[in-house]
Parts: sequence; C-alpha cells; structure tokens
Amino acid sequence: MSSIAVNRSTSLKPRPSDDQLQFGTVFTDHMFVMDYSEGKGWHDPRVQPYQPFAMDPATAVLHYAQAVFDGCKAYRGGDGVIRFFRAEKHAERLNQSCERLCIPQLDPAMILESFQALVKVDQDWVPRKRGTSLYLRPTVIAAEPFLGVRPAKSYLYFLILSPVGPYYAEGINPVKILATDTYVRAVKGGTGAVKTAGNYAASIYAAEEAKHQGYTQVLWLDGVEHKYLDEVGTMNIMVKIGDEVITPPLSGSILPGVTRDSILSLCRDWGLKASERQISIDEVVAAARGGTLAEMWGTGTAAVVSPVGELGYKGEKIIINQGKTGPLTQKLYDAIVAIQYGETNDAKGWMSVLR
Ligand code: COI
Repeated sequence: MSSIAVNRSTSLKPRPSDDQLQFGTVFTDHMFVMDYSEGKGWHDPRVQPYQPFAMDPATAVLHYAQAVFDGCKAYRGGDGVIRFFRAEKHAERLNQSCERLCIPQLDPAMILESFQALVKVDQDWVPRKRGTSLYLRPTVIAAEPFLGVRPAKSYLYFLILSPVGPYYAEGINPVKILATDTYVRAVKGGTGAVKTAGNYAASIYAAEEAKHQGYTQVLWLDGVEHKYLDEVGTMNIMVKIGDEVITPPLSGSILPGVTRDSILSLCRDWGLKASERQISIDEVVAAARGGTLAEMWGTGTAAVVSPVGELGYKGEKIIINQGKTGPLTQKLYDAIVAIQYGETNDAKGWMSVLR
C-alpha cells in the first residue's frame, strides 16, 4: 500500500461548541484525497488542507452523476478514546456502490487507512458531548472531462469530516413521515441498494412535498405496486407489531444499512422475533386500527435510531405510541449508543480504535 503524504494546514479554523452542532454544516481543517487514472490505478493518497476542487465544466460527474458515497461515524468515549463504528462494513459498502456505478473499487485497507489518517490529523474536532460525533463522508466521483456516456477513465476519492449533532431538528424526539404512492425511490434492478448521489437527487421533490405537509421525511413504498414499505428518506424503517419487529428485506431496492444490520442483531440477541420480510402499508394501517402497532423507528448512520411518532398515508394520520418514543426504540437507542461511546463491552467487535 502506498504511503500517505500529510500536508498540514497552517491556518486552523475555529471549532464550534458541541452544543451548537447540527448535521453536516461545518467541516474540519483537512481532507483526504486520492486519484485514479487508467493504467495507473489508485495512487497518490494524501491528507491536505480542506479546500475546494477546481473542476473542468465537462467533468463527467457533473453531467451523469457517476458518484458514490458512504457515511461512517467516529465517537469520543467518556474515556477519551476515539472509536469508529463498523468502519469495515462501510468500506465494504462503498466498494459495492463503486461496482454498481462502474467505478474502480478501492483497496478496502486503504479506505480504512484514510479514515485513520484523516481523523488522526483532525482528532481535536471529534466532539465530546454525548449525542455528538464526527461524521466521515468518503466519496468517489468520476473526474474525467468527457461528455460521452460511458465509465470515466479517471476518478477522485475524497474523505471529508464533519462534527455533528442529531440529524433531525427533532433530536431524539419522534419524527413524522409521509408514505407516498405518487413517487417512487427505486425498483429492483435499479440503484436503490447502493449509495449513489442520483438516488438522493431523485428523492428531493417528494421530500419537499412531504415537508410542505408538515412531515419530516418520505416513507417510500415499493416501486412496482406502491404497496410494500421500502425505506425512509435517509434511514431504513422498522415496525413493531405485537411482539414482532419487522423490517423490509434486502431485496435489491433498499440500502443495506449498517445500523439496520446492527439493530436486527441486538433484537435477536435479546430473544425478540425480528423478521426481514415484506410488510405492506395496509398491514401497518390494519395494525394501527387493531391496536397492535406498538412502535416504529428508523435506523441509519446519521439518524442512529429515530422514533417515528406519526405516519401519514392517503390523507390519514396514524399516531404511533401516542406520538412518543416507544420503550423498545429507547432501549435500542441506548444500547447502540453505549456501544458507540465505548461504555459497554463491544462483544461483536463493531468498534475500532483510532490508532
Ligand atoms: C447516512 O446516514 O450516513 C446517510 O448517508 C444519510 C445522509 C444522506 C444524510
């Protein structure tokens, strides 16, 4: 593996206080960059001062969105140790996204090294307050200036860091989501199972409509029948009906969420019935009417575990658990956060320490 050059910034920025942190609004002093060119492969890994890119207006990513990203978090525990949550899984998913977008994959060890190298240089930016973290955004974009539609011949990998607070303005309080049967996010065979920029661009219109109706995010239904739950704007969705925790299966149109996988694993450890199966919006509505819809929550790196207090569908408002955070949602949130901050035994080996 090539060694990583480090060029430190000479003018450091002021850091916001932990109490003011929102999601993705401030960035640290440095960034990690690496280039790809045909014949040479990935080369020249480096940490450099955070700065804008100069780009030819014909650069492929600006026209055809050949771009993938991921999102991982580093936490500072009460013991002062900085730990990454499931970094290997994020590196693996970034490469899966690359493959689907015809982008040359990276050496997973180099992705992990980029996390280590950059967070090491900017470690003072990892916030201290519980509920805050340092969000890592590894991204790969097509860098060739060319207007034909084909895989680019050059790429740029970059990693930026942002100290963050809660993703939602609601914090850990329940959010309201609106199920849409007008717009679709993805269909099997499309790009819904990977983290590519275009998925998010295509989601904004419906998200804005939902916002105008007072909802925080869209609950996407399947793209064929508009019947089965897929996922929410920036998170996977889980419901508890009776004693069963249900989340849609990884059948090609939803993201294989790292937090989704972790929460399923915790539920199963606790002896709960956690099913990955299709669940229709009609089943959710019927459970709500029948009094068995106990809880609903979303999972995601940015969102962690976010309770859902209201579901809108066809003009109806379904209030879940009286609009309050349910007991299992709270227990799952507490358990995963305790692991992330190094407060409990990391029995599953999910955390890796900043060296
Ligand atoms: C994440 O949870 O890391 C995401 O990628 C959501 C983001 C689009 C805000």
